[in-house]
Amino acid sequence: MRNLTESNLTEAVLAKLATTEDARFRQIAESLVRHLHEFVREVELTEDEWLKAILFLTAVGHKCDDKRQEFILLSDTLGVSMLVDAINHRYPEGSTETTVFGPFYQTGAPEFENGANIAEGVAGKPTYFSGRVLDEKGVAVAGAIVDIWAVDGEGWYDVQLAHLEAMQVRGRLKTDDLGRFWFWTVKPVSYPVPSDGPVGDMLRAMGRHPYRPAHIHFMLSAPGYRNIITHVFVAGDGYLDSDVVFGVKSSLVTEFTEHAAGRAPDGTVMQTPYFVAEYDFHLARENS
Ligand code: BEZ
Ligand code: FE
Repeated sequence: MRNLTESNLTEAVLAKLATTEDARFRQIAESLVRHLHEFVREVELTEDEWLKAILFLTAVGHKCDDKRQEFILLSDTLGVSMLVDAINHRYPEGSTETTVFGPFYQTGAPEFENGANIAEGVAGKPTYFSGRVLDEKGVAVAGAIVDIWAVDGEGWYDVQLAHLEAMQVRGRLKTDDLGRFWFWTVKPVSYPVPSDGPVGDMLRAMGRHPYRPAHIHFMLSAPGYRNIITHVFVAGDGYLDSDVVFGVKSSLVTEFTEHAAGRAPDGTVMQTPYFVAEYDFHLARENS
């Protein structure tokens, strides 16, 4: 293996992978090498550009810590996360569409009773959210876990606020016998993904804005059903058609309707105007 050239170098590297024991790893590594080499050939990468790419990826790594995942952000903003999501969640017709997980989920969010306020003391517009968890045929799924996380009224996740000691605007509920769940929160707002790192530099170089349309994240699970990770988006948001992470699906958009002060659907008497939103989720059976 000497005197390798532009035209036979790829084959030489691929030949080296022939001894890879794990068949799936071999398939992935071979495809990666082929596409990487083809990419370099196609754009005729200069040495300066190659070094710039290495330094960019190094900066992406340096930006990561236990609260910040710049590689996921890179994957999200290049549409890779949504492609992986689409390939891995080919759920049957009738089940709720999935979307990007994002970097702000936290395990161990507090458990709440239905009707609780998951955003107690958080600035924002009070919102009553209710819905049902059903199977693909519309039959109620009782005891499903509804795991919720969202930004505060100013567009920040709790993990982004260094001064906070406890989680906020996140929690876990359980559906009742009719598959229903309901809670109070604050109306989500559109917000920029973190853009003070190399991914932000990349977005600016591409002339792109960093915004996501307002949404609430949901993760739904119940024994015998496939987990669903998704969002519910606020109808009318100005970024629905330009989400920086390509995550919007029309079936996930719902109205958040403003009401004057008065009695809310769960009987709470509101002294201020508030919003009401409703969304039903449909789970697919395992192995469907
Ligand atoms: C989010 O919606 O939380 C999110 C998703 C992808 C990148 C950044 C944030
Ligand atoms: Fe989000």
